[in-house]
Amino acid sequence: MDAPAASPISPLPILIAPDPRLRVRTRAVGPGDAERVRALLPRMFAAMYAAPGIGLAAPQVGETLRVAVIDLLPDNKPAPIALINPQIVALSEEMVTREEGCLSLPGHYADVTRPARVKLRYLDAEGARQEIEAEGLLATCLQHEVDHLDGVLFVDHLSALKRNMILRRLAKEMRQKTER
Ligand code: NI
Repeated sequence: MDAPAASPISPLPILIAPDPRLRVRTRAVGPGDAERVRALLPRMFAAMYAAPGIGLAAPQVGETLRVAVIDLLPDNKPAPIALINPQIVALSEEMVTREEGCLSLPGHYADVTRPARVKLRYLDAEGARQEIEAEGLLATCLQHEVDHLDGVLFVDHLSALKRNMILRRLAKEMRQKTER
């Protein structure tokens, strides 16, 4: 008898700014959320890889839990990181400026200045306590995703002028897309 086919994981659709669900402050994952998180994580990874992107936070798929996924694909190999209840416990005084983008603001990029290094505590997909100290792209990515969990987008770190320019252009592009 044939083995049953593995059920395909359907990626969740990604919300585009200025969707108000991107502005929701998420709530911490509790013991009663285990099933929901177990179902959510593979679909978030699937959405991130399909986009493709290197990070995705729960509000971007309309979820209100403190969950994010990251994979920087070092050497083009998967290195998935599931972040549950991530908490920044230390930031360096040294700052770094890096160009950022976001799957919820497709096609738009801007230089964002943030602490160069970060120490983060979180639970992994198995619920085990983890701590990482990161620098470089991972440090930026971790801060970007934790921001999402507090309803903050990378454009919020820009001047109001730059932010509004990006949001206006994006709104126009989305209008044109739906009119087509
Ligand atoms: Ni983002």
